Amino acid sequence: MQHSIKSIMGIDRDSQFATRVIILSIPSAMLFIALTIFDQLSPLLSFICYIVIIIFNMFSLFPISYELQTLRKYIYSLANEQDAAQNQIRLSEKDAQELADAVNSIHRFWTSKADTLEAQTISDAAVLDTLPDPILMLDLEGNITGSNLAARNFLGTDITNRNIDTLFSTNIFIASVEKILKGKSASESLVFHAPEYHNRRIYTHITKLPWFSKGRATAVISFYDISKALSLEKMQSDFVANASHELRTPLSVISGFIDTLQTTAKDDDDARDAFLDIMREQTDYMSMLIEDLLSLSRLEMAQDKELKDKVDLHEVIDDVTQALKIKAFNRSLNVVVNELNRIPKIIGDNQQIHQILQNIVDNAIKYAQENSQITIELKTVEEIPAASGQNVAQGKAVRIAVNNKGVKIDKENLARLTEKFYRMQIHKDMKIKGTGLGLAIAKQIILHHRGNLTVTSTTYNGTTFTIYLPVKQK
Ligand SMILES: Nc1ncnc2c1ncn2[C@@H]1O[C@H](COP(=O)(O)OP(=O)(O)OP(=O)(O)O)[C@@H](O)[C@H]1O
Ligand SMILES: [Mg+2]
Repeated sequence: MQHSIKSIMGIDRDSQFATRVIILSIPSAMLFIALTIFDQLSPLLSFICYIVIIIFNMFSLFPISYELQTLRKYIYSLANEQDAAQNQIRLSEKDAQELADAVNSIHRFWTSKADTLEAQTISDAAVLDTLPDPILMLDLEGNITGSNLAARNFLGTDITNRNIDTLFSTNIFIASVEKILKGKSASESLVFHAPEYHNRRIYTHITKLPWFSKGRATAVISFYDISKALSLEKMQSDFVANASHELRTPLSVISGFIDTLQTTAKDDDDARDAFLDIMREQTDYMSMLIEDLLSLSRLEMAQDKELKDKVDLHEVIDDVTQALKIKAFNRSLNVVVNELNRIPKIIGDNQQIHQILQNIVDNAIKYAQENSQITIELKTVEEIPAASGQNVAQGKAVRIAVNNKGVKIDKENLARLTEKFYRMQIHKDMKIKGTGLGLAIAKQIILHHRGNLTVTSTTYNGTTFTIYLPVKQK
């Protein structure tokens, strides 16, 4: 029912069809009226002729009106992004068909352009997302119009359309952004603290986009987190300060004794012998320290060195235990090596692996309780346990656990053992010699081999250093 109201014979009521038929019949209507007035034609005949003309007009106008209406609907369907390829129209009127073909070719052109544009946008976004540093795009008001993955990870996933001043409160940064947006500067670079983001120190570069760039974006901001680099720099300067301090202490002891020997103790033979012993001890310590410092710096420089030796861990452990035999004997320690299964040769740097075991077994001997047993246990494992912030190798590995009995190391100390120059107070008080670099060196080498080092300590079992080294490097 409703359909019949809306359309007549397939032509919508709101189309111009009826109007056109009536307008086209007006001249004939006037002619018939004139002929009737001047008695040239009877009113009935005039009326019949007029009706015939109207019917004739309806028939001649019907196809073009109908097809125009079909064309109009078709164009609307294209505009509403319905799948036009599925229902392409065929029209019988030549003009209407040509119009439909023209519309189709325009549509095809824009569809392909839109597809290319979409593909380009997707690939641009993918490229931006691969960049490790956060990037933001801003409009003229400072609202975020775009961001890459790193930016969303850094600032949150819901940043689109938020204003930059709702994300950062640091005045110098916001002022620089404003300067760019107001066109007072073409680019700005600065370093600032971001209290909202763990007080990270950020280097930022803000650039105005060229005037010919289309779209809403007016400026691009890139961020570089320089906190890590700065803390690395600080670590390096702390290291230099620590190293100089460690060297200065024995040097001043030696220089003090030289003074005494040259003056007050000049003719005191006993004092001279005692002082010379202390000086020997101090120079030994200095050469140990220099040796360790050189080892560390050599290791840091050899970070990229290819690991290609086939290392026989039995041989390494034999060498190390032989070298430390007297030291262990002097403290009445019994060193036992347990091989829990067959250990394959591993790929690594022979000399560096010697050094790891030398340092860790040496510690076990130095810090073990006298008259106890040191156990070195070897085993293959299916994989290296993951370590946070560290890249460990996949696949089979060898686990070497070095255990010694002694006082339990508390949690705070355990966490700091591998720091450079870190020594536990208790051992300093016991006057056990050491530079505090042995474990830092071992850790560095293990990192280079993509292995792992863990330490556990209990009152009953003592302290166990567990080294994981991958069997293969790839
Ligand atoms: N097996 C262990 N048992 C108890 N404490 C240990 C053990 N190994 C290391 N430590 C503690 O960790 C600290 C750091 O060890 P590290 O090997 O780095 O230095 P060090 O032994 O003091 O000096 P270096 O090895 O350079 O001669 C030691 O001073 C000691 O306090
Ligand atoms: Mg040591």
